[in-house]
Amino acid sequence: MLSALKGSKEEIPDELVSQVLGEVRARGDEEAQNANAAEIRQALETMKIMDVVRGKAGLGGHNLKDMGEHKFWSTQPVPQLGEGPPIDDGYIEPPVPRDQVQQEGYTLPKDFEWSTIDINDPNQLKEVYDLLSLHYVEDHDASFRFQYTADFLRWALAPPGYFKEWHVGVRVKSNKKLVGFIAGVPLTIRVRKNVFVSCEINYLCVHKKLRSKRLAPMLIKEVTRRVHLEGIFQAIYTAGTVVPTPVSVCRYNHRPLNTSKLVSIRFSFVPRTTTLARMIRTNKLPDALTLPIREMEERDVEGVANLFAQYMTRFDMIPHFNLDEVKHQFLSGRGTGDVVHGRREGQVTWTYVAEDPETHKITDFFSFYSLPSTVIGNTEYPVLEAAYLYYYASSASWEKSKEEYKQHLKVLMGDALIVADKARFDVFNALTLMDNVEFLSDLKFGKGDGYLNFYLYNWRTAALAGMEAIGDREAGRGVGVVML
Ligand SMILES: CC(C)(COP(=O)(O)OP(=O)(O)OC[C@H]1O[C@@H](n2cnc3c(N)ncnc32)[C@H](O)[C@@H]1OP(=O)(O)O)[C@@H](O)C(=O)NCCC(=O)NCCS
Repeated sequence: MLSALKGSKEEIPDELVSQVLGEVRARGDEEAQNANAAEIRQALETMKIMDVVRGKAGLGGHNLKDMGEHKFWSTQPVPQLGEGPPIDDGYIEPPVPRDQVQQEGYTLPKDFEWSTIDINDPNQLKEVYDLLSLHYVEDHDASFRFQYTADFLRWALAPPGYFKEWHVGVRVKSNKKLVGFIAGVPLTIRVRKNVFVSCEINYLCVHKKLRSKRLAPMLIKEVTRRVHLEGIFQAIYTAGTVVPTPVSVCRYNHRPLNTSKLVSIRFSFVPRTTTLARMIRTNKLPDALTLPIREMEERDVEGVANLFAQYMTRFDMIPHFNLDEVKHQFLSGRGTGDVVHGRREGQVTWTYVAEDPETHKITDFFSFYSLPSTVIGNTEYPVLEAAYLYYYASSASWEKSKEEYKQHLKVLMGDALIVADKARFDVFNALTLMDNVEFLSDLKFGKGDGYLNFYLYNWRTAALAGMEAIGDREAGRGVGVVML
């Protein structure tokens, strides 16, 4: 039944879901007992997506119809659904000289106007924050909504060499209210053997009252035009939704830190086979760090940059960060003032390093960032404090055996959990990218119901290993770009 569905857009029939659920439960272990129909449906959906990613979804019937249904994406230089892997990597449309790029902004519906947002102006930054905190990404049943802070947005949108013009807003002409936003920042990436400057797109958002009016394609086209004006013709972006055509799919995993709060806000559930008290005990982390790590400082920038560059050669799609970028990504978000309960005022990133006591070389580092979510309609706990694993690196990956490296990574990431716990985060999230699959289950991360699709604009390459291995490429090893 499942193979008949592969690549199709049809709803997965209830009988199939309950049949699979029955078989999973029959397996009998704790995780299996807690499986429910919604999870099974999600997993089956993902199997369908994976086929699209691998280019296996045939061109027949349903998929032809699917592409026709993508009125916008079928006109864009992206791999189309069911196209199959390319023979060679490369662009889909050639670059064009600046004077051949459309010079005027696209025409918006008559009540709206374009507005370039100056994120260094606190009022405009607040407008973006207000739009996103009420209208940005929610989970599938509208329980949680991302609440990027103004400090976070100022940090994320202004890396070295950023273009002000790439922070694109849409306002209502009459009252100037900000109702739409999309942002791009420059990012040099390597995809397999090719290195190029791309635009990293994020924070696409349209006010809830203005949905389904095709404003999203206008925002995408306008930011694309502005990116072209800078002589850049590729982009990288992620989305929870599937559009033509993901280059990889990763799954969210969650490590509970404040178990009782997570249960209270229904982020986590107490399975029938255990009790809340037992869950709290299992998830409890030690107080003391295992490794001699310390917070990254200015003097570590070069060491971290070198370690990072060498380590990242393990993965197929990665960012290239110069010294200024390393400083920005890992140091500039540390906030100001004294550390109180593990954090400073306005802190958005945490970065720790380990150094060799003799050579003083940086041997390891990890970083994570703070991205709270609004707990919709909860007055007791209005905010879920979530830490997200960002970049990390370890020289153990080339100095030690595979097994020793894996053990070391587990200890390093265990320390990341302890640091996040001390900073009073409720949960620590990580995707199935980089080498994360090596430690997720051992460190008691649970599989989430969210997936993140990775996309490249105007670049063809075969699917990259994310939540599943592809050929002999292990799961995660395809994706070394962590998007905020
Ligand atoms: C995402 C969002 C801006 C889309 O706006 P919308 O009003 O629902 O959709 P529109 O009618 O304007 O446009 C629909 C087109 O945009 C595409 N689209 C919608 N969301 C998209 C996304 N996240 N990435 C890329 N394309 C997207 C659709 O596929 C469709 O194109 P198609 O016909 O070729 O398939 C809006 O739903 C929103 O703000 N959602 C909450 C925030 C969010 O999810 N942001 C995206 C984070 S990745």
